[in-house]
Amino acid sequence: MYRRSGVCIKPVQESRPGSWGGRNAPCTDDRSLSGFIIPVKALSDVEYEPPYLYPDYRSTELRAPKHEPVRLPDEWFHNTPGPAFGRIPVRVEDADLTRQHRGEPLGERIVITGRVLDSDGQPVRNTLVEVWQANAAGRYMDPVDDHDAPLDPNFTGAGRCLTDDHGLYRFVTVKPGAYPWRNHLNAWRPAHVHFSLFGPSLSSRVVTQMYFPGDPLIPLDPILSSIADQRGRELLIARLDLDTTVPAWALGYRWDIVLRGGRATPTES
Ligand SMILES: [Fe+2]
Repeated sequence: MYRRSGVCIKPVQESRPGSWGGRNAPCTDDRSLSGFIIPVKALSDVEYEPPYLYPDYRSTELRAPKHEPVRLPDEWFHNTPGPAFGRIPVRVEDADLTRQHRGEPLGERIVITGRVLDSDGQPVRNTLVEVWQANAAGRYMDPVDDHDAPLDPNFTGAGRCLTDDHGLYRFVTVKPGAYPWRNHLNAWRPAHVHFSLFGPSLSSRVVTQMYFPGDPLIPLDPILSSIADQRGRELLIARLDLDTTVPAWALGYRWDIVLRGGRATPTES
């Protein structure tokens, strides 16, 4: 809904956070094109946020803002504490998506881990990391998902954990399958895991997606391609990590998340 480090919020319908010039600088200007508000970025910005409006990603045409951004006081945005975690305590077992039912889910068991860092490279401790994903067949446990692929009774596809003193998170899950979507004819999403983080304040909110290295669908994906800079796209791709891999049990992937600054992980939703 709003930029994470700036002072502008989107005044109309919900969309992905970020994109008002990134998490480094406030909005300085904007111009209108076909009714959309297109932020003009400062030349010194180094950021990889996708634009609100990216026609190849059709949903953005419905949710790109059409009104002037609302300017909020800096102190409101930067000093307001992050949202609470809710009333249900985060349990250790919430981070293992393969142990939420009577049996184990089908698919390739994997471990995903990494650090959550702030703009200065310091670990963000005790912050909530939430994930959700399709099952190994590419189907979400969601009534609105009508993809003709099997549900897995042993896989809900949602988990969460708190980072430790080193900013480290860790999930055990199965590798999600690719799935079709209606963006264009024969459109398929690369395998991905959705991530949500609150961080220490409203300005550090991140909702994004993590991808797997070597996926041939990655170059064809309009959502990932909406990040113009290759370096930004690469920030969303995990790496296979043999130190995370559990021998004879699960492959491991490493993916660090940076909440703010020039190396901030791009948002996607
Ligand atoms: Fe998805």
